[in-house]
Amino acid sequence: MYKEIGLCCPICRLPLTQDNRRLVCRKNHSFDFARQGYINLLPVQNKHSLAPGDTAAMLHARRSFLDSGLYLPVSNALCERITKYARGNILADIGCGEGYYTAQTEKNCGCRCIGIDIAKEAAKMACARSKSIVWAVATASKLPFEDGSADIVTAVFSLFMNDEYARILRSGGIVIEITAGNDHLRELKELIYDEVFVQNKQPSPCGSQFAAVEQTEETFRFTAEGELLQDLLLMTPHAHRIKSGRGDPFEGKDRLSLTADIIIRVLRKK
Ligand SMILES: C[S@@+](CC[C@H](N)C(=O)[O-])C[C@H]1O[C@@H](n2cnc3c(N)ncnc32)[C@H](O)[C@@H]1O
Repeated sequence: MYKEIGLCCPICRLPLTQDNRRLVCRKNHSFDFARQGYINLLPVQNKHSLAPGDTAAMLHARRSFLDSGLYLPVSNALCERITKYARGNILADIGCGEGYYTAQTEKNCGCRCIGIDIAKEAAKMACARSKSIVWAVATASKLPFEDGSADIVTAVFSLFMNDEYARILRSGGIVIEITAGNDHLRELKELIYDEVFVQNKQPSPCGSQFAAVEQTEETFRFTAEGELLQDLLLMTPHAHRIKSGRGDPFEGKDRLSLTADIIIRVLRKK
């Protein structure tokens, strides 16, 4: 199961092979599968805090919100680009969170998926999304993949790691990145901040290892109601930026009509 996807040891970079309930390299670095089915490929030396990445509260809020289907247009935008541009089907989803988009790409595009997140709770939760996806705790700055082993890298509201993505992709492989545009969740920001500054949000420069294939901005409207409003707030960084004493931004509201504004960028490795 693990052979064709080219996982490598996060310590010495030698290939990992499966030995029963663990993955092991020739130098005998070994990594056990957790009870839930994920594999922890984040050695302490690659960890810069005790519990890196999103918190359990953020992850659970994101799961409830995404399961509502309100972000289906985001998933559709991602899957359309995979269908249009990808050749080959080994897909590494970096910063996969609780696994919603990874599972969607497996279901809709038939990709052989590996979901990577630095938060252990994310990998734990993601296991419930699909048993055939490989879920791993690892850092995007030192990805546990052999050079040229992936056909597709996806990063949805996640990180862009120029050199690592170029290293793990084979020549002709693609990155599909989805980031928030200027207007993303504008109505939520207006409830939280005294003034909403217009930033010219753009994806980070892609460097000389990639050729730009497409960059498109798409917007859609959706209405969040009841508990989904709190879920939406909690899954964003805005929840931590609410000034103390400001109170509940949704006071007196049980629904909110919102704008989603996403930038979809596709890059091809030269
Ligand atoms: C905004 S969330 C997006 C999650 C998912 N892609 C989605 O849209 O539902 C970003 C994710 O990146 C993870 N993350 C943050 N830093 C990371 C790193 N250095 N390596 C891998 N994952 C990281 C977080 O734990 C979090 O789950």
